[in-house]
Amino acid sequence: MIMTDIIRKKRNGETLSKEEIEFVIDGITNSSIPDYQITALLMAIYFKGMDDDETSVLTSGMMHSGDIVNLSNIVGFKVDKHSTGGVGDKISIPLAPLVASAGVTVPMVSGRGLGHTGGTLDKLESIPGMRTDLQIDEFINQLKRIGVAIMGQTKEMNPADKKLYALRDVTATVESIPLITASIMSKKLAEGIDGLVLDVKYGNGAFIKTPDDAKILAEKMVNIGKSMNKNVTAFLTDMNQPLGEKLGNALEIEESIDILKGKGPEDVKELVLQLASEMLILGKVASTNDEALKILKNKLNSGEALKKFETMIEAQGGNTKIIENYDLLPHTAYILQIHAEQNGYISEIDTFGIGNFIVHIGGGRKTINDKIDHSVGVQLFKKIGMKVERDDIIANIHINKIENGEDLEKMFRSFIKISKNPVTPPPLIKEILK
Ligand code: URA
Repeated sequence: MIMTDIIRKKRNGETLSKEEIEFVIDGITNSSIPDYQITALLMAIYFKGMDDDETSVLTSGMMHSGDIVNLSNIVGFKVDKHSTGGVGDKISIPLAPLVASAGVTVPMVSGRGLGHTGGTLDKLESIPGMRTDLQIDEFINQLKRIGVAIMGQTKEMNPADKKLYALRDVTATVESIPLITASIMSKKLAEGIDGLVLDVKYGNGAFIKTPDDAKILAEKMVNIGKSMNKNVTAFLTDMNQPLGEKLGNALEIEESIDILKGKGPEDVKELVLQLASEMLILGKVASTNDEALKILKNKLNSGEALKKFETMIEAQGGNTKIIENYDLLPHTAYILQIHAEQNGYISEIDTFGIGNFIVHIGGGRKTINDKIDHSVGVQLFKKIGMKVERDDIIANIHINKIENGEDLEKMFRSFIKISKNPVTPPPLIKEILK
């Protein structure tokens, strides 16, 4: 087979055969197809899409591009959660230890920042010493010992996604329903899980902009999961404003710990509890939402969830002292305050703009080899619907280079719209699909 023919076929809107998709995945995995041809094909898929059969073949091929983790020796249910990506989306970090503290094993294989969105691995690596490059046997042993582990894909595990994910990140080809479906489901189905909770985000800070498209994506992922005999639940959740108050790698670790201490912003708390509740139900630890929430609140209040996070940090080589002393996390040299220029109500937040802003100040990657500055980020004090008075602080920008401070201020202010009339905030959870 010739790669140029496959690219041309997809570019012209034709359907790729099973053999062609498998040829591409083999070529990605054994590095025989150069990056420029892979990215050309990604762009063709972005524009022309893939039907359900192509998406299934792509998912299964990516999943089998490496080892499948065998967790059958671990007793009990293994349930994971994955988000399609957003700004300030640190949910996995408090959620995984919380759910594990309630008795459901959480084998979590996460990603790095993608486009304007942050990644769980980059956030965790803000913790001095924390390793996310576990080998599969380390991952399994840690799950056996403490019931939770978060790691990145290894060379052996889904190498096709690892490569595609990194290329999509820097070639503007993330926002594609078949590519997101295959990327997420191939990773998750290779983990050896019994159940999966998906957080499918829509809005101006998500890869998918409308609830209708998010529903199509959610249904595709639920159906692929079911076809492989997994219990999958998908939440459709709002990303028209960042989640929580702290955005950026180290800042999000602080907010995650706040949540485990029973503090933190209400939106993050609510989403952590609702997604965790569904994980307890899929993990057969609870049979109703009320029962699950009671267990989870108890684990937060008793400090067991926080303790589990501490144990996980320790197991992965991180400095557990950060839990009590946030000064041990990376911090920036400067904090730039952004003030409101008028009275009114926050009516709109350009969440995509804020995500890109964080990438721009060093919190994400612009090219595949960029190093992340874990310390930078934004504290956003005002959310949609909140009242503001002229000169109120809307946000703090955590930066290490102050030279172009005025430009940054101007840029950031353009992300926040203030209206004279009261505004109703969007609902956080729109729908749950099973
Ligand atoms: N998360 C993933 O793992 N893959 C995507 O394509 C988008 C979000």
